[in-house]
Amino acid sequence: MEFNWDELGFDFNPTGGENVRYYFKNGAWGEAQYTTDEYIPVHMSSACLNYGLQAFEGLKAFRGVDGRVRLFRPHAHAQRMAAGAKKLCLPMVSEDMFVESCVDIVRRNIDFLPPYESRAALYVRPVLFGTKPCLTVKAYNEAGFCVFATPAGPYFKEGILPIDAIINRNQDRSAPLGTGDVKVGGNYASSMLSCQEAHDLGYKAVLYTESVHHRYIEECGAANFIAIKNGRYITPKSPSILPSITNSSLRQLAEDKGFIVEQRPIDLEELPTFEECGACGTGAIITPLGNVFDPETGKNIHYCDETGPVLLDLYNTLQDIQYGRKEDKFGWTVLVE
Ligand code: PLP
Ligand code: COI
Repeated sequence: MEFNWDELGFDFNPTGGENVRYYFKNGAWGEAQYTTDEYIPVHMSSACLNYGLQAFEGLKAFRGVDGRVRLFRPHAHAQRMAAGAKKLCLPMVSEDMFVESCVDIVRRNIDFLPPYESRAALYVRPVLFGTKPCLTVKAYNEAGFCVFATPAGPYFKEGILPIDAIINRNQDRSAPLGTGDVKVGGNYASSMLSCQEAHDLGYKAVLYTESVHHRYIEECGAANFIAIKNGRYITPKSPSILPSITNSSLRQLAEDKGFIVEQRPIDLEELPTFEECGACGTGAIITPLGNVFDPETGKNIHYCDETGPVLLDLYNTLQDIQYGRKEDKFGWTVLVE
C-alpha cells in the first residue's frame, strides 16, 4: 500500500497489517490472536453493541530523527483505559498487557510507520469491549481487547494552522458524575449532533460547556482546551473532562519554561482575555483556535490568523521529544526496537 504521507488524514487508513485480539472468559485473558482480518465477530446481543460497554485509547508511535521508533506515553494510556474499565465494570487489562500489546503491534506494523519528514505518525488504537450476549443491564465478566494500528495525519488537517470553534450549550457530552473523565464511546455518541451542527455552520470544533450552568468551558471537540494569558498556561478543571495525556505533558513543559500552570474552572466570560488558545490531544497535538463564535450572543472573538508564539513553542518542544530531536528527560517515550 502506497501512501501520500503529507496528505494523510486522521482516519483508518488500511494497510493490511496485523492486529491483535484477546478474549476474557472464566476470569482470565486468553492467548493473543494475531490476524490481518479487520473484522471482529461479536454477538448481536453483546453488551458492547447493545449497551455501549466499550472503552478505547489512542496513542502514537513516531519515527525519530535518529531512525528509532518512539511510542508516546503508553503507560499513561494504559492507566486511563483501566479507569474506563473500572467505571464500566469491564474486565481490566493490566498495564503490562496493554503496553506490551501496543509495542508489539507497532513492531508488527513498522513498515507502515510514516517517515520522519512527514507530519504523520502510526496511530495505535486499543479497544476494550463487552462481548457477553445479554439483555439484562448488568456487569458481565466477558470482554474482548484488540489493538490495531493505522498511519494517520493530524486530527485537524490544518495541523498547526488555526481553526474556528463554536460554543455549544445545546448538547452535553458528559455530566459531572457521568463518564466524561474516561475514554468511552458513549461520550462521543452524545457529542455527535452538536459536532454535525457545528460542521454544517463551517466550524471545525465545538467548545463544550459543563452540563450544570453551561457557563464554564469543558472540552474542545475530541481534545482538551488550553489557553495562554500573562505568563500563565490555563486549562479547565472539571470532573467531566477527559484527563488528556497531551495536556498533562504540555503542563509539564509549560512549567519548565517558567509558565504558571492553572487548572481551574474557566468562565466563558474570560475567553476574550486570552492571548492564545487551542485544542490539544494525541490526534490534535496542539491546534490553535483562530476564532471562537458564541451563537447565543452573536459575538465572535478573533485570536489569530497564525499560531501564536507560546503555543507554537510548546508544539515544537512536544514534537521535539516525540521525534527524538530533544532528550526525553521525563521518560515519556518507549523505544520500539
Ligand atoms: N478530550 C477528548 C474528549 C478526547 O477524545 C481526547 C483524545 O484522546 C482528548 C481530550 C485528548 O487526550 P489525549 O491527549 O490523551 O489524547
Ligand atoms: C485522539 O486524539 O487520540 C483521539 O482519540 C481523538 C479521537 C476520539 C478522534
